[in-house]
Amino acid sequence: MNSEDTALKIIRYRKESPFVGKFCEILTPLPPETQGDKGAGSRKSISSPPMAKFAHDEVVPYQNSQQEKKEQVADMFNSIAYRYDFMNRFLSVGIDVWWRKKAISQLKKLGPKQILDVATGTGDVAIMTWRMLQPEKITGIDISAGMLELGRKKIEKLGLTGKIELQEGDSEALPFADNSFDAITVAFGVRNFQNLEKGLQEMRRVLRPGGKLVVLEFSKADAGVLSVLFNFYMNKVTPAIGKFFARNKDAYQYLNDSVQAFPEGQTFLNIMNEAGFTQTYLKKLSLGICTIYCGSK
Ligand SMILES: C[S@@+](CC[C@H](N)C(=O)[O-])C[C@H]1O[C@@H](n2cnc3c(N)ncnc32)[C@H](O)[C@@H]1O
Repeated sequence: MNSEDTALKIIRYRKESPFVGKFCEILTPLPPETQGDKGAGSRKSISSPPMAKFAHDEVVPYQNSQQEKKEQVADMFNSIAYRYDFMNRFLSVGIDVWWRKKAISQLKKLGPKQILDVATGTGDVAIMTWRMLQPEKITGIDISAGMLELGRKKIEKLGLTGKIELQEGDSEALPFADNSFDAITVAFGVRNFQNLEKGLQEMRRVLRPGGKLVVLEFSKADAGVLSVLFNFYMNKVTPAIGKFFARNKDAYQYLNDSVQAFPEGQTFLNIMNEAGFTQTYLKKLSLGICTIYCGSK
């Protein structure tokens, strides 16, 4: 079996079961040309199989709910919106601000004029992007009306209405024409998508050729004492603090569960390559607690 057959087989296994796929990947690493290794990700022409399902697509905030993941996620963010910014700063001891800055700085060289911030929430990334890059316009999109309402208030207070526009919408069915944006950012959003592959394909569709996607997402800390502490913090401390301050333990338990199930690192770069992104690379931040993923169209 040649390397392309092996790659196809592993990719198919992964689509059928991410766990089996991961196991296969460990036993038989994908050949380099199918991987988006640092600075040199390139899409291998592999025929497009049916839409993939990943383990985290199935992780939902409310175990006993009959609603689909997307509705549950929107409800959850609506219910914690009033505490969201405070909880971010509190739980990350302010490091999240630096993570966002590092992610946005990946776009400095490109100098994008039209930017889309997917899963914009309360607009922190959109506002910081405005300050750092001064583009012509930033559009933020999110499925949670509650998060957007708070974001609009912040934008108005800062006198940025007209420069940053927030609208309700789904990242898996973006209401924009093909090739509309020079750059797309998505911070702590892809982990919440109901269908990760669809979300990535949609973002690529609305990106102009040569445009760049920057994804910021939690990941599991590199091995060692830190990873034990991180797991304890995410699994025990965070839900307890979430219960106390945001009156929603489920939301912060979901944060941990979705981080654990997320296909991080090289696996996520492979998924980006599969969705058609090129020149993919990743940068780990804070000993792997958070990762920036980039790709171009
Ligand atoms: C953890 S918050 C991140 C907000 C913001 N990007 C930030 O950095 O603070 C995740 C956001 O993703 C949004 N979201 C989840 N699934 C989405 C989807 N399919 N389309 C658009 N937004 C989505 C949620 O409503 C929520 O506001």
